[in-house]
Amino acid sequence: WQLLIPRRKTEPPLVFHWLPIIGSAIEYGNNPLKFFLTCREKYGDVFTFILFGRRVTVALGAKGNNFVLGGKSTAFGAEEAYKHLTTPVFGKDVVYDVPNHTFMEQKKFIKVGLTRDNFRKYIDMIVDEVETFLNTDPAFNVYQTGDTSKWGQFDALQVLADVTILTASRTLQGKEVRSSLDKSFSNLYADLDGGFTPINFMFPNLPLESYRKRDAAQKKMSDFYVQIIQERKKGNEHEDDMMASLMSQSYRSGRSLKDHEVAHIMIALLMAGQHTSSVTGAWALLSMAAYPDFIEALYKEQVQRFGTSDGKLRPLNYEEMRDLPLLDAAIRETLRLHPPIHSIMRYVREDASVPPTFAAPSKDATYVIPKGNYVLASPLVAQMDPSVWRNADKWDPYRWSDPEGVAAQALKTYVDGNGEKIDFGFGAVSKGTESPYQPFGAGRHRCVGEQFAYLQLGTILSTLVRNLDMKIPTGVPQNNYHTMITMPKHPRNIHYRRRN
Ligand code: HEM
Repeated sequence: WQLLIPRRKTEPPLVFHWLPIIGSAIEYGNNPLKFFLTCREKYGDVFTFILFGRRVTVALGAKGNNFVLGGKSTAFGAEEAYKHLTTPVFGKDVVYDVPNHTFMEQKKFIKVGLTRDNFRKYIDMIVDEVETFLNTDPAFNVYQTGDTSKWGQFDALQVLADVTILTASRTLQGKEVRSSLDKSFSNLYADLDGGFTPINFMFPNLPLESYRKRDAAQKKMSDFYVQIIQERKKGNEHEDDMMASLMSQSYRSGRSLKDHEVAHIMIALLMAGQHTSSVTGAWALLSMAAYPDFIEALYKEQVQRFGTSDGKLRPLNYEEMRDLPLLDAAIRETLRLHPPIHSIMRYVREDASVPPTFAAPSKDATYVIPKGNYVLASPLVAQMDPSVWRNADKWDPYRWSDPEGVAAQALKTYVDGNGEKIDFGFGAVSKGTESPYQPFGAGRHRCVGEQFAYLQLGTILSTLVRNLDMKIPTGVPQNNYHTMITMPKHPRNIHYRRRN
């Protein structure tokens, strides 16, 4: 119905398309970066395209990010944009299924569970999971022989997906989830995940088998978590993890979280972190492997920081890991070139004027985006903008250590956006909304998992680099944009050799 409303003169330009309703869905879906850049050339930084019957107004660049992500929640709503995708997967009464002020309280509860004390404990657990994986998974059969001269191969995405869920469940999700991972839990996860695709985003109510499976899995998974919560309530053992933290908290009204709310927040964390982190780890490894010198530099960084006089490496620890500039730059640069979430959307709740300092049809006119449209910011476009970044499409982690370089400047804006002091090392925390570097979003919906993601990725990558020499003769793979999160296409096999 949105398309039946006649366009007003003040609206941003509409991208030309041949197919009604479908609009530009195919160009956008195949390659959003190319589509946005082509449109930017024709129409400027602000334009509207049709996406399966929706009008989506794109606002590009750092100013576009600021416009969309810094917009008030009364003007731009995330709930309408994401609810139909996330509620069937996460469950009711959490995240986008509740009014924004309630979700903001839930986000605070999550933050309480992400303490430094917990992070300190997580490092050993993550290392243990990755080393066990190296010693047992068939992908590492050559490693397991102990032979340091032979090369083996592994699928970067598959391995990272496996170790990400193993390590996230061992740490954030709690011991009950970790111990069920080899049994029923992973099947439920797979079915639930099958409902987290672009099709589900576009068409929430198709009579598809995958939707039926998703709904059944959501119910079972929710029951599984609720059962853990109830068992914990009965027992005397006190856990000190995310679930325990959520169970102990109350809303401002004084009401404590209901069991199903705790369960659904846990599912939301699982789903929000799994693909984003695993795909980032895969891209990082693939990019590093394409520059074997860089892998060696990373290994040297480990030796310099953790080497002992008898030629061994001390175990990783949280404090020292926060000071590994090369590893940090590798993750940061990977997130610049491959932000897993290339488009961030909001629903326009009331007519919104675009500031003329950002974009305008003429000197004395202003664009107005009508209520009912969606707005879209693209971290990907800003992060690959050649007018901002030198050799924008080259993976160059060293750009982050050049104090005069654009990257450092971008980070500075990122930091200074809200005048907030940030914590360098494991991820930057800032609420600043105007920046060309925002892989974790910005503003009120900014990612809560950033520090955990850095910790998890940093520990996984360090452990792999400590144990393996790696290269990728086929080069860094192409992007697959057809999935919810931008994935590396095949071939993506990394060749590895056990370090001596
Ligand atoms: C939100 C990226 C890992 C939990 C977001 C957003 C981005 C993002 C761009 C903003 C979405 C928007 O504004 O619409 C990433 C990346 C990650 C990562 C690149 C890893 C490399 C995680 C992890 C967790 C997590 C590990 C959980 C432990 C969340 C949650 C939100 C969110 C709950 C919703 C915030 C809201 O709407 O207010 N993430 N994320 N993320 N992220 Fe992450």
